[in-house]
Amino acid sequence: MAEILGLGVTHSPPLARPDSGMAGILDRVRSSRRVPESFRQPDAWPEPMQCEWAANANFAAAAEHRARQVEGFRRVRKALDDFAPDFVLIFGDDQYENFREDGVPPFCVFALDEVESRPFAMGFLSSGNVWNADAETRVRTRGHAAAARYLAAKLLEAGFDTSYAYRMRHELGMPHAFINTLLFLDYDRTGLDYPVVPFHVNCYGSSVLSKRGAFGHLEQDGPVAPDPPSPSPARCFAIGAATASALAQSPWRVAMIASSSWSHAFLVEKHHYLWPDVEADRARYEELRDGQLARWRGLTTAELEASGQQELLNWVCLAGAMDHLGQRAAWSDFVETWIFNASKCFAVFPPR
Ligand SMILES: [Fe+2]
Repeated sequence: MAEILGLGVTHSPPLARPDSGMAGILDRVRSSRRVPESFRQPDAWPEPMQCEWAANANFAAAAEHRARQVEGFRRVRKALDDFAPDFVLIFGDDQYENFREDGVPPFCVFALDEVESRPFAMGFLSSGNVWNADAETRVRTRGHAAAARYLAAKLLEAGFDTSYAYRMRHELGMPHAFINTLLFLDYDRTGLDYPVVPFHVNCYGSSVLSKRGAFGHLEQDGPVAPDPPSPSPARCFAIGAATASALAQSPWRVAMIASSSWSHAFLVEKHHYLWPDVEADRARYEELRDGQLARWRGLTTAELEASGQQELLNWVCLAGAMDHLGQRAAWSDFVETWIFNASKCFAVFPPR
C-alpha cells in the first residue's frame, strides 16, 4: 500500500568541500565589483556575522556548521532506511545545468532507467572534496521510469502541464541539486541504492539564465535583464499536493525529499549579496515547526526573490504534499549561519 515519507535536506556544495573552503562563496562575493568598497570588510557587517567570522579564524565555525549538517543528514538517512522506500522523489532546482538557453521548463519529471554522474568534476568540487574522490569518479544512480511516467501522466490529467524527460542533458549527469543530495545522504559512504525520480522545479526563475543560476550577476557590470519568473509559490504548493495525491493512489512507498538551503546570500541584493535573509528564514522555520505550512501557499515570488529564498520553492512543493497528506514534521533542525552563504533546514515528516 502506498505510503509517503516527507524529508527535507540541503544540497549545499560547500558541505562537500573541506572546512577551509566553507566560506568560499563569501570570499568570492567580497571581491565582486557589485559589492560597495565600504562593505567588503567585516566591521561593516551585522554583529552576529562579525562574531561568526571571528569564530571561523581557524575554521572552527565551519567545523561546527558541518557537524550540525552531517548530524541532520544522519537523522534523515535513518528515517529513510527505516521507511525502506520503493523509490526516492527529489524536488530540486537547476542552476544552468540541464536547462540553459534552449529551454527552461517550470517543472520536469525525469523518467530515467539509470544515470551516470561525475559530481566531483563540477566547478565547486573540482579543487577538492571531503572524500578525496577523484574528479573523474563516476556515480551511477538507478531511476524509476515507471513511477515517473505514472506521475507525469497523473499530473497532466490533473491539469498540471508538467514536462518530462527520459535522459539528462547535463554533461556531468545529474545536476548538483540531485546528486549532492544523494552524496550527502551517504556522507559516511556506506552505500545508497534507492531508485530516484528527480523532480525539477525552476526555482531560479528570473535569475536562472541571467545569473547563470548562481553568480553570473557578480561578474557583470550594469543592470541584468531578468528572465521570465519561476512558477509561483501557490503553483508549487499545488503541484506538491497533486504529486502526493497521485502517489498516494500508487502501489509504491515513496520518500519525498525537498532539497535546498534557504535564503542564499549571493541572491540578496539588499544585503549587497554578502549575507542571507536570516529573519525571513527564521519566520519560515517557525511556520514549519509549528505546523503552519499552509501559509507558504500565500508567499509571493517578489518576497522570495527579495529574500534570496528562490530555492525554498523546492520546500514549498514538499509543503503542499505534506499539507495534502496531513503530515507534520516530527523532527526538524534549523542550522543558522551568516557567513556560510545560506542557513540549512532538516526535517522528517513521518507517514500518518
Ligand atoms: Fe540549488
